[in-house]
Amino acid sequence: MDVTIRKAALKDMGVIQKLNHELFLDEQRRYKGTLRTGWPYSKEGRKYFLKALKGPKDLLLIAELDGKTVGYIAGSIGKAKSWRNMKKMGELDNMIILKGYRRRGVGTALVKELFRWFRKKGIRNATVVASYANVKALDFYRKHGFRDMEIVLEKRV
Ligand SMILES: CC(C)(COP(=O)(O)OP(=O)(O)OC[C@H]1O[C@@H](n2cnc3c(N)ncnc32)[C@H](O)[C@@H]1OP(=O)(O)O)[C@@H](O)C(=O)NCCC(=O)NCCS
Repeated sequence: MDVTIRKAALKDMGVIQKLNHELFLDEQRRYKGTLRTGWPYSKEGRKYFLKALKGPKDLLLIAELDGKTVGYIAGSIGKAKSWRNMKKMGELDNMIILKGYRRRGVGTALVKELFRWFRKKGIRNATVVASYANVKALDFYRKHGFRDMEIVLEKRV
């Protein structure tokens, strides 16, 4: 399988928003219906993806198979929490592979490229947040070396 990974450009914005929207629809039940599923098309969503495209501390990559966009990954570099002993922390912000193209190594190719970018930028630690019930994504992240570190609990009050 010949997957091409490249930096996203402005012309890819529409397809990235569409993929991100699919991720929101998929996650909605895991978030007990509390997500703004229209977020990818909102002012904040557009602003987020524009920053991901152009920001010096952001990376937005897309994966293509035979010229078709089949997935993307967004990553960024931020300040580590002051109680950690490193200054900067990488974050895998979000990613999705189109249904029908999963389990073919596309996600792996995207993650590896993001890790390469982190290392090039001098980043040695990276985090990813996933919903607790997203077992497949958690398996995927653990397979790529992420270890369970924190758990966030939420309730209605
Ligand atoms: C999670 C995701 C990004 C993985 O991408 P992918 O291209 O399918 O992954 P790869 O083919 O590179 O890697 C496959 C490995 O990941 C894990 N994995 C991926 N999909 C899995 C699934 N459906 N069930 C169980 N494990 C899975 C397995 O360890 C698998 O290895 P194996 O095939 O040897 O068993 C993709 O399945 C996806 O887009 N999921 C929906 C969106 C999502 O949940 N995104 C993350 C939230 S931010």
